[in-house]
Amino acid sequence: MVQVNGNYLKLKAGYLFPEIARRVRAFSEAHPDAPIIRLGIGDVTEPLPEACRSAMKAAIDEMGTPEGFHGYGPEQGYLWLREAVAQHDFVGRGCQISAEEIFISDGSKCDSANILDILGEGNRIAVTDPVYPVYVDSNVMAGRTGDADQAGRYGGLTYLPISAANGFAAQLPSEPVDLIYLCFPNNPTGAVATRAQLQAWVDYARAHGALILFDAAYEAFIQDPSLPHSIYEIDGARECAIEFRSFSKNAGFTGTRCALTVVPRGLMGTAANGEPVELWALWNRRQCTKFNGVSYIVQRGAEAVYSAEGLAQVKALVRFYMDNAAIIRRELTAAGLAVYGGEQAPYVWLKTPEGLDSWGFFDHLLGQAHVVGTPGSGFGAAGEGYFRLSAFNSRANVEEAMRRIRSL
Ligand code: MLT
Repeated sequence: MVQVNGNYLKLKAGYLFPEIARRVRAFSEAHPDAPIIRLGIGDVTEPLPEACRSAMKAAIDEMGTPEGFHGYGPEQGYLWLREAVAQHDFVGRGCQISAEEIFISDGSKCDSANILDILGEGNRIAVTDPVYPVYVDSNVMAGRTGDADQAGRYGGLTYLPISAANGFAAQLPSEPVDLIYLCFPNNPTGAVATRAQLQAWVDYARAHGALILFDAAYEAFIQDPSLPHSIYEIDGARECAIEFRSFSKNAGFTGTRCALTVVPRGLMGTAANGEPVELWALWNRRQCTKFNGVSYIVQRGAEAVYSAEGLAQVKALVRFYMDNAAIIRRELTAAGLAVYGGEQAPYVWLKTPEGLDSWGFFDHLLGQAHVVGTPGSGFGAAGEGYFRLSAFNSRANVEEAMRRIRSL
């Protein structure tokens, strides 16, 4: 019989969000009339910006003509989109990132997992705890960890706990690590990193020859102008960091699929024989072999994000979700809960009430208020006792969910 990848057997449970969906389905079947409001998975709800839809419609019409038809596109993405990204997201913020360094893809989730293809097996890996589960599970699947302990922590990973006690800011690792996953604004805690905090990470990475994998999927939600949106706003980051960006949350592309990964030229790793190797060349090789690019139509839609109308429409979408986050924060605070995040990020992170652990609070909210959230423990052992609510929903649903929670 064919052998399976035994690393998959080390995975603790189902992936968090399908597991939540499974429990919600079971509840729904038992209570078919319960009007459930979903503030669990961070999936957007508002319609695609008009600028993106118009651009995609025009691209479909183009595809219907012999001159405008597009077959396979460049594996790295069309140059016009890469140039728009470089200009608006990086050069415009003072980062020296060129179009050539931008790889368009169908998602940051996939890219943050796929990047392991080009990294060696012996790397020592640091993640925050709690953390976006993809970083951990993809390392487990790739055989880069040991087994999980009772608390769900995998051997071989360095966990950097973040909690209210340290202001959700991870300490630099006290043991040497080679690969560091950072996500700011943070999923799940909604915390942000200041320029000085990111500088400390970049300095650490450069001093230790480590690579930072920086997930900036939520950068559009930053409200404080003093906060960096990109790791490349930090001196020295080109020498030690890869960045992931997405159109999912700002422009509503979770179902449409478009994202990007930045791999600076000259960013080096080492081969087993000690020779320096450029990561850009490896990622380019990987994408050319395993990926055929994002559809022309979707890339035209993403390009429209950077038009004058697109920029205004995306800004309005972000404002809408951040107003939801403000409502969630206000109402939960009024309900007497300790609330974090939600000011520069679309996630509100809260302490579960006395006597309820994360899954206990999940069941309580689902059962009593028919509101779905995400148990903090699903993001890591140190997330136990916390809970995440997403601001991605309609205003009416957010207000109704808060009304129900307050009346509990
Ligand atoms: C989440 O809820 O954490 C998000 O859905 C993560 C993701 O975008 O994959």
